[in-house]
Amino acid sequence: MASSMSILISHSPAETECLGEKFGQAAGRGCVIALSGELGAGKTQFVRGLARGLGVTTRVHSPTFTLVNEYDGGRLKLFHLDLYRLETPEQILSAGIEEFLSPDGVAVIEWAERLGDGRWKMEDGKQFVRVKIEILSETERKIIYDDFGA
Ligand SMILES: Nc1ncnc2c1ncn2[C@@H]1O[C@H](COP(=O)(O)OP(=O)(O)O)[C@@H](O)[C@H]1O
Ligand SMILES: [Mg+2]
Repeated sequence: MASSMSILISHSPAETECLGEKFGQAAGRGCVIALSGELGAGKTQFVRGLARGLGVTTRVHSPTFTLVNEYDGGRLKLFHLDLYRLETPEQILSAGIEEFLSPDGVAVIEWAERLGDGRWKMEDGKQFVRVKIEILSETERKIIYDDFGA
């Protein structure tokens, strides 16, 4: 899959949400969005916009005590995962992440870097999008993401 990257400098939480919203509007069934970036980077903020773009009206909270939160009511079902508490790729796989790599809907995964680069089994024709958020200052974020027609 040929892909190019884009960079956005976000100046506010709302701007980061807006980018997420565009992803939510463009995402097709089976799309997996891998989010990386340190604590407080804005991953969950991005997911709030993503949910809105899919038409989900429920407020998004990070799945801190469960592997996944599921949101219905949008154009496609949204599966929101957070791998923060899982230390190794082995722990992540045994937690049952596999089914969310071919989601019946859209999956967004915070701390995707915890799974390790080689572990993402991507099938042809499937949307797999990486989004990396870097903290530049209190309100500025550098967001580097794969283009997928958003
Ligand atoms: N440009 C920005 N984009 C996203 N979040 C921002 C931005 N500027 C400040 N913030 C703040 O950073 C925090 C990001 O938190 P959160 O989305 O929970 O991060 P993460 O899920 O990556 O740990 C929020 O408190 C948000 O208000
Ligand atoms: Mg988070």
